[in-house]
Amino acid sequence: MVNQDWLATEDGKWQVCHSAVPGEGLHQYRLYRFLTNVEDIIEHHSQEQVRLEKMRPLVRQLLTESTWLQFAAQPPDPKVGWSVNFLYEEPQFPLTIQMVAWLPGQKSPIHNHATWGVVALLSGQEKNRFWRRAADESHPDRIEQTGELILNPGDIISFMPDAIHAVEALGDEPTVSFNIYGAPNYQDRWRFDPQAHTAQQF
Ligand SMILES: [Fe+2]
Repeated sequence: MVNQDWLATEDGKWQVCHSAVPGEGLHQYRLYRFLTNVEDIIEHHSQEQVRLEKMRPLVRQLLTESTWLQFAAQPPDPKVGWSVNFLYEEPQFPLTIQMVAWLPGQKSPIHNHATWGVVALLSGQEKNRFWRRAADESHPDRIEQTGELILNPGDIISFMPDAIHAVEALGDEPTVSFNIYGAPNYQDRWRFDPQAHTAQQF
């Protein structure tokens, strides 16, 4: 299977991206090197779409050159159906890195992230459903679904801040993903209810 790199945008669309992998010749792409490379991107590029374009190859490099990543996740908590293991967060620095695991059948709410993000699936199979805002006169937070995309291990998806999605763990085994996000603008981060046509900050 050929792995894909994706970009999801606020219009509810997604497109395949072609990322060249920078070859540094390292046996292991260490987290601190990845962080340094990401910091350089953030400093030099202010546009989210450009940041994502520059970061996707680095995440691809992690997948191919970082065997340590396989040991970074925690199994999903059976009580809640998921787990998050923070690999990196630092006060006053706009970046978090998390390993996220979902039990099969678990679904996230419909949400945006209000920041850029790159997610790489390490194991399991994950369905991403996408929406776009479709306000009408009486429902300013109305959304409509635009489609869905199934991610397999090795696939990478990147999100613009206002991309609206929900994920669902398919199949029989937990999903494990690597997630890197910028600092969210909480005022613009929403959880959507497509039946009531409402949105709540979270
Ligand atoms: Fe998300």
